Amino acid sequence: GKDKELIRGSWESLGKNKVPHGVVMFSRLFELDPTLLSLFQYSTNCGSTQDCLSSPEFMEHVTKVMLVIDAAVSHLDDLHSLEDFLLNLGRKHQAVGVNTQSFAVVGEALLYMLQCSLGQAYTAPLRQAWLNMYSIVVAAMSRGWTK
Ligand code: HEM
Repeated sequence: GKDKELIRGSWESLGKNKVPHGVVMFSRLFELDPTLLSLFQYSTNCGSTQDCLSSPEFMEHVTKVMLVIDAAVSHLDDLHSLEDFLLNLGRKHQAVGVNTQSFAVVGEALLYMLQCSLGQAYTAPLRQAWLNMYSIVVAAMSRGWTK
């Protein structure tokens, strides 16, 4: 329906290389919650957003995140087919110390990036369409958390 068209069209309009958009998203994420920086413990530690952005492993993570969003956009008609993958992905994030509550902040950072990139094309229905998809992805990942 309309939601899917809005999501597909806007995602495509960001261009083929999604990494720069991921950089905007993660820079915003660290602005909103700087404590998340400490969860990225690579060879070069992420003490600041700048440290992170100059770490190849961190940039790979940005690429991975964009690929997961890309997979969700490509599977809008059968998001449930990603459920096992997303549950496992959630499990990995629990293991590295992510809190499910942080996904709300990640969602805000995602919307911020879309707003920056889309300008006038960022409308209330578009925002809602993305929130709907994002909440399905987060719900599936959150099922990977065990007490
Ligand atoms: C792996 C942190 C959000 C996708 C990882 C790793 C860390 C991490 C430390 C392991 C090292 C690495 O592979 O780079 C975080 C933090 C997040 C976050 C702190 C936000 C609070 C996300 C989101 C997605 C995602 C929203 C996608 C929707 C991935 C993928 C991997 C990964 C695909 C690789 C998993 C594997 O090795 O199989 N994340 N992440 N991450 N993350 Fe995240």
